[in-house]
Amino acid sequence: MSLPDLALPLVKKLSPEAAHNATIHGLKLGIGLPKTSPDRWGTAVELPKSGLKLANPVGLAAGFDKNAEVFRPMARFGFGFLECGTVTPQPQPGNPKPRLFRLSEDDGVINRLGFNNHGLGYFVRRLRRVAPDAVCPVGANVGANKTSDDFIADYETGITATYPHASYLTINISSPNTPGLRGLQGKEALQTLLERCGIALARAKDLHGAEKPAFLKIAPDLDEAEMSDIVEAVRDHGAWLSGLIISNTTLDRPSSLMSADAGESGGLSGAPLFEKSTRVLKDMASELFGEFDLIGCGGISSGEDAYAKIRAGAHAVQLYSALVYHGPGLVAKINADLAALISADGFSSVAEAVGADLPSRG
Ligand SMILES: Cc1cc2nc3c(=O)[nH]c(=O)nc-3n(C[C@H](O)[C@H](O)[C@H](O)COP(=O)(O)O)c2cc1C
Repeated sequence: MSLPDLALPLVKKLSPEAAHNATIHGLKLGIGLPKTSPDRWGTAVELPKSGLKLANPVGLAAGFDKNAEVFRPMARFGFGFLECGTVTPQPQPGNPKPRLFRLSEDDGVINRLGFNNHGLGYFVRRLRRVAPDAVCPVGANVGANKTSDDFIADYETGITATYPHASYLTINISSPNTPGLRGLQGKEALQTLLERCGIALARAKDLHGAEKPAFLKIAPDLDEAEMSDIVEAVRDHGAWLSGLIISNTTLDRPSSLMSADAGESGGLSGAPLFEKSTRVLKDMASELFGEFDLIGCGGISSGEDAYAKIRAGAHAVQLYSALVYHGPGLVAKINADLAALISADGFSSVAEAVGADLPSRG
């Protein structure tokens, strides 16, 4: 067992935010980390549109390593890819504390952090210490400052600054904790955002040569009309947009929640998000499967959960909240169980299992 896994019972005695900060400090020290080879499970997968080559399909979701400080130590737990951020152009403190809550009885988390981060300058300095892909693909998730008077300009700035140093980029318009941000998912705003981001990406590509994939990260709280607007917009920008990450946290509070902090405002993640985010993933996959790469995120804490997302149409998956309860050693277990499930169903690769539950493929 690694030191971070051994220390988990102690860390859990701290407040959630102090626990996170202690974990980041511990990871930076780099003591007692495992050296799990990400390709040991024979579950390599290539994302068809973006061309991203992953040693396994299990990634770290954005928000854990907001400042790109610990992606190298985190890679040692066996992740197939890692996403740093969300980073905003200017440093910002985020919302007042407390702003992070464990819903222990529900295996859930509520956060209203509000993109607390050290800003792009710091992020890029950290990211460029390591060549992209030196550990595994490392993505940069970009967002907008709370006080910005042009959110879209902040995404352009983020894309331009991180492009040379990241393996892929994520345009995050789905955090519920920056007022107005989710409004960018609306029909007209999304078209404008994608137009301007497409131009920023093309410029960066001309400047730096290498082509970097870009993903759009969406919320799970979308009705049918909003989903079809997103489908239309991403199709219009399919020339440069590689895919979608589905999903961010939810504003829903399922009636099944039992924890005392269930009424806190913010985005809910972890087990209570699994069903909803998988449904949105499957709905989006029924439209976009084969056209775009889809990354499934939300409530994954086991090989079964990861496998369900893959069968629903995800080429790869990401997780965060389950690490709060189970520690980073969970990544190896999820990978091992996922490999066993894939082969038990007679698939010879992850790619064969992708979308197996979709009517068009089943
Ligand atoms: C504490 C916390 C902070 C997060 N911060 C971000 C963020 O900065 N950017 C982002 O795109 N998603 C962020 N997320 C959302 C996660 O990346 C992920 O989409 C969501 O939590 C669902 O996955 P999970 O259930 O495995 O946690 C955050 C989640 C948590 C729990």
